[in-house]
Amino acid sequence: MEQYMMRGGKPLMGSVPISGAKNAALAILAAAVMTDDTVIIENLPDVRDINVMIGALEDIGANIVREDKHVVRINASSIKGLSVDYEYIKKIRASYYLLGALLGKYKKAEVALPGGCAIGSRPIDLHIKGFKALGAQVDVGYGLISANAKRLVGSHIYLDKVSVGATINILMAAALAEGKTVIENAAKEPHVVDVANFLNSMGANIRGAGTDVIRVVGVEKLHGTEYSVIPDQIEAGTFMFAAAATHGDVTVCNVIPKHLEATTAKLLETGCEIVEYDDAVRVIATNSKLTPTQVTTLPYPGFPTDMQPQMTVVLALAEGTSTVTESIFENRFKYVDELARMGAQIKVESNIAIISGVEKYTGARVSAPDLRAGAALVIAGLAADGITTVDDIHYIQRGYEDFEEKLRGLGASIEKVDSEREAQKFILKVS
Ligand code: EPZ
Repeated sequence: MEQYMMRGGKPLMGSVPISGAKNAALAILAAAVMTDDTVIIENLPDVRDINVMIGALEDIGANIVREDKHVVRINASSIKGLSVDYEYIKKIRASYYLLGALLGKYKKAEVALPGGCAIGSRPIDLHIKGFKALGAQVDVGYGLISANAKRLVGSHIYLDKVSVGATINILMAAALAEGKTVIENAAKEPHVVDVANFLNSMGANIRGAGTDVIRVVGVEKLHGTEYSVIPDQIEAGTFMFAAAATHGDVTVCNVIPKHLEATTAKLLETGCEIVEYDDAVRVIATNSKLTPTQVTTLPYPGFPTDMQPQMTVVLALAEGTSTVTESIFENRFKYVDELARMGAQIKVESNIAIISGVEKYTGARVSAPDLRAGAALVIAGLAADGITTVDDIHYIQRGYEDFEEKLRGLGASIEKVDSEREAQKFILKVS
């Protein structure tokens, strides 16, 4: 079983290239089946979730050519099946984007019902509400969700809660519905905008993505396109927090600084210096003592829930008391017990973590409970005294491309090991 082993205590220094955004790419891959023409998608991150989504597309009959690690050519004219197997949904919830994409194109789709996951129960009632409003009949049963429509007709849809997934799924179906759809209280995340831009590049008519109200005028069909996915704001933020926790000096490159504003604001509050360039952001934490602060996760442009564990790891090293309030998912503090094994002092009361900063972490063997918390534990290990081993790194590999290589490029002592022998070798090397 693969693990990350690291010897902490070294400030991360240098610059790191940021890959394409996983959560934008997942939806864009699904949306690529909405035309029979060829679609080329560039800047895909080479991570497990993307490979699973590509597998799901192949499974329903799409023709996929992997031009290189980051570029795929998709032709969906050969699609035969409109049913997405549980095997895929079990691995990535985002395969439910195929529901909106296939329903839009074929007026019919079936996807295994996603269950809860490590971070919460994650209902999909808003996706269903949207499809129904467009005139689809949606049935849930026997572990499946199926949607059928004679025709999809534009509608006025109010989302009771801001949901990235529901906004994108409804957008896709509405792009090929008859007439006008208005989505109110829409999610404004950069990846929602990216999916809308992608669909527009295929001939869709979507306006207002990035605001609360998205207007879609349905078109009869979509055409092929060539599109490059935006950079991953969460990957970038993860390296920025790693710079802060290790008192380093790191520049994240190929990013859109605007997407990182919530992160840079919080890093400034903790005492880091930030320099923004056109497509890069530098975090300087070499001289600063970390200062405590308060943070609440919120939909974009608020502080992202996907950056909450990484922020907590930094605040647990700040001098004084901080609080972190998780307002999106109910189960996103599972990693706190693991962090406590490294010396953090954190008390969780309901959805609030009350953090009493400590001077340093001490290396320990810990387990990644999910993707972002896993990355956060690696950051803690890099800041810790001694050796840390992180188990269950398959979670981290779902969403971070070449994570350990990129960290090594910043001077970290980290390796992926796959046996007791390799673990011993690492210990000898760094001792
Ligand atoms: C997306 O999940 C991301 N995943 C998540 O990233 C991210 O944490 C989340 O958005 C929030 O930013 C992908 O893009 C593939 P939501 P999603 O629908 O779309 C509730 C990561 O680490 N809700 O915006 O599933 C829901 O329970 C992952 O990369 C309903 O009540 O999230 C939550 O409280 C993990 N009913 C809130 O809305 C619904 O029908 C926001 O969820 C849908 C959602």
